[in-house]
Amino acid sequence: MKNVYMLGIILCTMALHTGCSEDENSEPEEEVTIPDETVDLNPIPDQTTSYTGQVKAIIDAECLRCHGNPPTQAPTTLANYESVVEGVQKGNLLGRLKSTNNVMPPTGKIADEKILLIEDWIADGLKN
Ligand code: HEC
Repeated sequence: MKNVYMLGIILCTMALHTGCSEDENSEPEEEVTIPDETVDLNPIPDQTTSYTGQVKAIIDAECLRCHGNPPTQAPTTLANYESVVEGVQKGNLLGRLKSTNNVMPPTGKIADEKILLIEDWIADGLKN
């Protein structure tokens, strides 16, 4: 009985993969901040203009002699926060301040700095 031991030649092909394990660091969540420059129409970026802070004094001095409560020489009052907001949203208040042919007040444009403050107030969200 022949025990033939065949010496099998074992071909070992070992494919060694190296460098397949990338050590990924988990990325920290990035906080997105929008720089002021991207905000449209914000003429005074470093200031938050409010009605009680800046706007009321301008309207009181320039407009109430006609737009009082009750209004005297004008159809609407601008004597409180709500009515001035309504003037902006429905009465084109800013447009009237800058108008060349039907400006408010009718006696002539108010100072540019005051118009700028009202523009900034609108841009800042009509805060009380
Ligand atoms: C001399 C009186 C007088 C003054 C001062 C005056 N207005 Fe008027 N305003 C009028 C009259 C009259 C009208 C209505 C006729 C018109 O629309 O032009 C009017 C209309 C308006 C309107 C459009 C309609 C409405 O009532 O919403 C706006 C907005 C307005 N004024 C804003 C202003 C603002 C803001 C000021 C102060 C910066 C001002 N006015 C100062 C007399 C005045």
